[in-house]
Amino acid sequence: MNEIPVYETPAAAAAACAEALRSLIEAALEERGVARVAVSGGSTPRLMFDALSAMPLDWTRIDWFWVDERCVPPTDEQSNYAMTARHLFTPAGVPAERIHRVRGELPPAEALERYLAEIEQVFQTDFPEFDVVQLGLGADAHTASLFPGEPLIEEIGGVAAAVYVQKLEQWRITLLPETLFSARARLVLVTGEDKAEALRRITSEPLEPRRLPGQLLLSQQALSHFFLDRAAAAGLE
Ligand code: 6PG
Repeated sequence: MNEIPVYETPAAAAAACAEALRSLIEAALEERGVARVAVSGGSTPRLMFDALSAMPLDWTRIDWFWVDERCVPPTDEQSNYAMTARHLFTPAGVPAERIHRVRGELPPAEALERYLAEIEQVFQTDFPEFDVVQLGLGADAHTASLFPGEPLIEEIGGVAAAVYVQKLEQWRITLLPETLFSARARLVLVTGEDKAEALRRITSEPLEPRRLPGQLLLSQQALSHFFLDRAAAAGLE
């Protein structure tokens, strides 16, 4: 990774990522009349969503999907949908019909089937090309819900899958690498000192995405824009 801007604080990195997302959405709206975005969950995007929610965007023309979701009900505190609703959809007033959540309350196979059907219905093709996907990085170097050791990382093809994450004892629904690679843009927001080691490893160790899934974000076929704060970037050369 070279020439990656490093921001002083998590808030500054989040604001820059929100601004990049806004501008990619505007470009998509101008070119195609709609914008289709897939966002990540966890805790890192909160500040970014707070910043984005205050921006003047035509929320009626933006479709929201998830890069990954935990198989929990939408009211669960672990739900990525719930976090996004709190920090983005409610404050911005996003119309419900533009929110394409994973039905985490259903059995995983059914949640996957419904999500795939919703993606197909919105994109009207059998393979989606998102305008932007926003990703994060876990301290164990996972990205999306592609955790170290996951065989689907090397599988070509497939839009999304249900994966059982052993270490969390939890099912999740995740977009697959080909979908992430097919997006027109990838924004990766990583902040906090607990991510420094994972960032150092994905950038300095031999390319082996099955062991270090975050390396998918460095792929030449899918250049990503990184937004890091100083703490996360501490281990980078
Ligand atoms: C999720 C996410 C996930 C996330 C990383 C980082 O559901 O957990 O979408 O892939 O990007 O786990 O999470 P934090 O921001 O909580 O560190």
